[in-house]
Amino acid sequence: MGARTALITGITGQDGSYLAEHLLGKGYRVAGIVRRLSSPNLSNLKAIQDRIELVDGDLIDQASLSQAVRSIGPDEVYNLGAQSFVATSFLQPALTGEITGLGTLRLLEAVRAHAPSARFYQASSSEIFGHVETEPQTEQTPFHPRSPYGVAKVYAYWATVNYREAYSMFATNGILFNHESPRRGLEFVTRKISDGVARIATGKSNCLTLGNLDARRDWGFAPDYVDLMWRSLQHGTPDDYVGATGESHTVREFVEQAFAAAGIRDWDRYLKTDARFNRPAEVFNLRGSADKAKRQLGWEPKTRFQELVRLMVEADLERHRAG
Ligand code: NAP
Ligand code: GDD
Repeated sequence: MGARTALITGITGQDGSYLAEHLLGKGYRVAGIVRRLSSPNLSNLKAIQDRIELVDGDLIDQASLSQAVRSIGPDEVYNLGAQSFVATSFLQPALTGEITGLGTLRLLEAVRAHAPSARFYQASSSEIFGHVETEPQTEQTPFHPRSPYGVAKVYAYWATVNYREAYSMFATNGILFNHESPRRGLEFVTRKISDGVARIATGKSNCLTLGNLDARRDWGFAPDYVDLMWRSLQHGTPDDYVGATGESHTVREFVEQAFAAAGIRDWDRYLKTDARFNRPAEVFNLRGSADKAKRQLGWEPKTRFQELVRLMVEADLERHRAG
């Protein structure tokens, strides 16, 4: 039997690039769908670019997704492509719905038509829980999304369940809580902090301006989470799994740890807040339980909060010291 083939949307992003590396390490043939941009955006893939195949496609365009699935013939499809920044989803709600919500349906349709026995992974999100009333959140927690992004992810979640039930497709949701890394986009709070602290430590800036410092998140390390994605498609049956560390921390705690990792003690003099970084509706508190993934998939996150903050700050310090 030849190598198994995986097709990844969102391969240029944080998770897509780590997942591609993870699957190459397991001997997969790896292909990714990339959209046409005026300047290429392949920096996360530079170490593996000659070992993967890239095909043109956009989650907004059905024909391109169908053609990509037909030409690659995948055994596993990972739908990680999305407009993934919650703040932008308030400014571009319809675009977010098109890409993050309907885009999932389009890809499911392409798989149903051209690779119906392929296993399908949907990058669902703890943002579907949103305004939570119980803690920790599990696969049974009701959904109450608080942003156009969260609403789109609820649609995509149910589309995935529906294709499983209606067409017996192997379609699985990974309901992942926040996961970060040195490849995280600079607009997300963890990377904004690690980059901002590294700028301050290297004399390139003298302040870090944030929004709600009291928001709590369950932050893990992205490479741990791509392993959950893969494991969820190796299981005997399709299902839905929470991926989380079970620990939550405030944005303020992240800031404090990040300055400590850079050896800066009098950090509060650099920290400012600005209401323009607040959201029209906030998700105040997320903390997940990954007991089901542990029981059924043998998955557990390895990297804890303090280590995550340290490795992100060190990576940004190294980058800023280099130039
Ligand atoms: P990311 O770094 O923002 O990557 C998003 C990817 O989607 C990029 O490769 C981007 O391509 C692609 N994309 C955007 N619009 C597209 C379109 N119209 N057609 C095709 N591809 C498109 O996100 P991430 O952090 O890796 O997250 C991966 C997935 O997991 C996303 O679906 C996200 O919503 C979800 N998720 C993330 C987390 C987290 O904490 N990271 C938690 C739960 C769920 P370009 O390079 O061309 O922009
Ligand atoms: N981005 C950002 N910038 N967030 C800030 C800031 C700031 O200056 N100041 C405070 N925050 C708060 C936000 O209000 C939010 O409560 C929290 O920090 C985390 O924000 P983000 O890092 O932007 O991530 P997110 O939790 O909204 O969304 C991420 O995680 C989801 C999973 O729960 C994204 O990766 C989503 O794609 C993902 O689904």
